[in-house]
This record gives sequence, structure tokens and C-alpha cells, in this order.
Amino acid sequence: MLLNLTILPGDGIGPEVTEQAVLVLQAAAGAFGHQLQLRHKNIGGAALAVAEDPLPADTVQACLSSSAVLMGAVGNPAFDHYPNHLRPEAGLLRLRRELGAYANLRPAICFPALEDCSPLRSDLVRGTDIMIVRELLGGLYFGEPRSIAGAPGSRVATNTMTYGEPAIERITGVAFELAEKRRKKVLSVDKANVLECSRLWREVVIRCAKDYPGVQLSHMYVDSAAMSLVQRPKDFDVVLTENMFGDILSDQAGGVVGSLGLLASASIGGPVGLYEPVHGSAPDIAGKGIANPLGAILSAALLLRHSFQLEREAACIENAVSAVLNQGSRTADIARSGQSRIATSEMGRNVVEAVKASQAKQKSA
Ligand code: IPM
Ligand code: MG
Repeated sequence: MLLNLTILPGDGIGPEVTEQAVLVLQAAAGAFGHQLQLRHKNIGGAALAVAEDPLPADTVQACLSSSAVLMGAVGNPAFDHYPNHLRPEAGLLRLRRELGAYANLRPAICFPALEDCSPLRSDLVRGTDIMIVRELLGGLYFGEPRSIAGAPGSRVATNTMTYGEPAIERITGVAFELAEKRRKKVLSVDKANVLECSRLWREVVIRCAKDYPGVQLSHMYVDSAAMSLVQRPKDFDVVLTENMFGDILSDQAGGVVGSLGLLASASIGGPVGLYEPVHGSAPDIAGKGIANPLGAILSAALLLRHSFQLEREAACIENAVSAVLNQGSRTADIARSGQSRIATSEMGRNVVEAVKASQAKQKSA
């Protein structure tokens, strides 16, 4: 199969981690007889530095004409004072919209080798396997009107949360389809005791759930869900929620399973899927070669699974990640005191070797 990808390294640690993810993709492609065709483009601060636009037209064009997009991260404090629509983050938000990527899947899995990395007791996190399904094109992120207006000292800021029924229906469908292939449970998270958006959300979710009689639906307010997520993370299976709640809960889930550096994401639903680690640009450690590339590498696995239906290849990468963690490979974010810390590139190399080794084993079997 020809895998035609656009790579968007972006800002901060983005380029370092995507470089490793691409090496792993190349190893997996080689092992399974696929061909990679890669184009690198700018986004975020990296694009602003050369084009005065966080999402240049040729980046959009390249993404739309490829089969999938792998992104590193956006965000650079140097552009914090820019108007909202020119900040690096605005480039990513526009890209999600251009790609029609309304469904953001964020798996949070506790790898057995990393049980002791979680700030929670290992008996609490052991076996945690959560799939956060975050609506990605609605809510406060995109609602109009939005502004900061008025004279200094009496300015007023406005953001708008809106949700229409079709947007709730389609993301609910994604969550239930996923739940059917998992433990058949959907938890819808809202704030229906306060927000109209959440009242409509709950009503529509309940209606759509009738099409999936084999899946058990429950509801929680977001504040209570946040507490339960740390009290009993393994009770969570598919979590269906709106854009902002999903942004917050997915970082929290990263903390629960040991490190945000491990979390991958898939943004799908449109013609071209976008895959990115959840962690962001981490400017404090950028350029030091110590970032954890596993979130990016696991995002590459999601890319193979969701954009190309290459389940064996995706599983091969995921198993390789488990294997290197079992062997004790640790970047700084997941190292306990006394454990030696390896560089971004070494972690990437170890995963590449594990991918090759698993393929060699299969061939000789
Ligand atoms: C994420 C990030 C983004 C978001 C930012 C960088 C715009 O935090 O992917 O979770 O808020 O969606
Ligand atoms: Mg976030």
C-alpha cells in the first residue's frame, strides 16, 4: 500500500518527537511491505516565522491532498502577544476545521510496566484503559461571537458555547461504534445542571443511544467525572464529551496513567485524518533531546489503524512500545529515581528495533 502522508513537525518538541515517529513508521512500512510518501510542511509558530500565517495555504493544500496527517505540536511563547487568530494554536484549530476532523479519540492506557509512574496507587491504575471521545469542532473553541471589547479598565471578554443537534449526533455515533468493539459502556460527560448546551447534549445522546441497545449509557457532570477519574480510573471505558471538557479530562487522564508524554490522539470524521500526541510543544524542554516520543509514535499507530485500516501494523507498533517499556527504556518524564533516562532518539531507536524484531520473529514462525 502507498501511504501518502503530510508531516507537520510544528513547534517546541514537535520536530523531535515527529522525527522518531516517522522513523518508526518507516520501519513498520518496511516490515509489512508498504511504501511511505512524505511531505513536510509548516504549522504554528514554525509557519509564523516564515509566512506570517500559522496555517499557510500550501500546508492546507498538502494536508487535503494526502491520505493522513501526522503533527507534532503547536505553541510558542514568543507569539503569546499575537492576536488570537494569528497565534500558533489558531493554526491547529483551523486545520482541524479544514479537515472536518470532528471526532478526537484519545486513548489513555496504563502500560503494565509503568504502573508505578502514576501518582496514584498502582492497584488503582492497573488495567486502566480509557477512550476519550472529544467533540472537536464545536463549543467554546469555535462559538461566535467571541471578543475582548471596551475601554481599558472596563473591557469585557466574550466566548460562546453552542452545540447543534447534528454535531452532537455525529460524535455520539462515533463513541457508540467504538464502545461496541470495547467493553460496551459509554459515559457521557456534561454539565447539564447548569448549561443549556449540556441539556441538549444529554437529550440527544439519550436519543441516539437507542440505536445501540447492547451498549450501556451513563451520564456524569464534568466536576464529578474529574473526581471519579482519579478515584477509580479503571471503571471508565468510552468517555463521550464536548470540546473543552474533553481537552481538560484528557490531560488529566494522561496524569493518571503516568505521563502526558504517552498519550496519542486521532482526529477523524472528515476526508483526511489528523494524528498528534496530546502533550503539546513543551517549550521548557524543547531542543534538549529529552522529550518522550511515545505519544507521537503511538499517534502514528492510530494513523495506520484509522486512516488505512492497517490493524496488524498498528498493533505491531503498539506492541513494540510495550516491549521497550518492559525492557526498561525510560525518558525523563517516566523515569523513577534511580532509573537511567534515555534520549528521545534512543527511545525512538529502541521502538524501531522492536518493530523489526517482531517482524523477524513472525517471518521465522
Ligand atoms: C490539545 C491542545 C489544543 C487544544 C491546543 C494546542 C489548541 O491543548 O490538543 O489538547 O486545546 O485542543
Ligand atoms: Mg489540550
